[in-house]
Amino acid sequence: MQLFLDTTDVTLLKDLAATGLVDGVTTNPTLIAKSGRPMLDVIAEICAIVEGPVSAEVAAMDTVGMLDEGRKLASVAPNVVVKAPLTRDGLIATREFAQEGIAVNVTLCFSAVQALLAAKAGAAYISPFIGRLDDHGANGMDLIAEIRTIYDNYDFDTEILAASIRTPGHVREAALAGADCATIPPNVFQDLFKHPLTDKGLELFMSDWAKTGQSIL
Ligand code: E4P
Repeated sequence: MQLFLDTTDVTLLKDLAATGLVDGVTTNPTLIAKSGRPMLDVIAEICAIVEGPVSAEVAAMDTVGMLDEGRKLASVAPNVVVKAPLTRDGLIATREFAQEGIAVNVTLCFSAVQALLAAKAGAAYISPFIGRLDDHGANGMDLIAEIRTIYDNYDFDTEILAASIRTPGHVREAALAGADCATIPPNVFQDLFKHPLTDKGLELFMSDWAKTGQSIL
């Protein structure tokens, strides 16, 4: 499973990328606004830090505007993936981008039939928003499982990118449900390393090791 960071914070990104465990990055207009920086600068900097796919979202609502913006975003670096919303215009743009060889991450997916359309349009990634569905009283993970089944039934190669992840449990469930990737906020990514029994076990091992008086080197 590929693990992406959902962030525009380059300091946190550099810190986590140093682990070698970050396969890519996703951004969105909210995260760009949070960075307080010009979008093209942030995307270029992120693309220089991470070799894998970096999603940059268009802001236009119409197909022609999305195509213009997407082509500009794609020109920033070879690893840019254009992010387009799951709307009728967004999917028409996705089809055109796919024909031009530009990878698209179709975002704001909340139903299995939306995911079916995105795959038919040639999306490289589909982003079902788990946390926002949970907030809405649904079970976001059911959507990941449904999309997995549909994509496997018809051999679509669109990758399922579990998004709107809020907890390590979401990462676990998305992996079990067969998501190809998950995009994770930095604080949740940091939590993936942790377990209280690891801390407790290490404390005991180190205390017993100290009693031996030995040194490995
Ligand atoms: C994904 O690409 C989105 O940027 C992100 O996962 C949205 O998450 P949120 O619902 O926590 O804003």
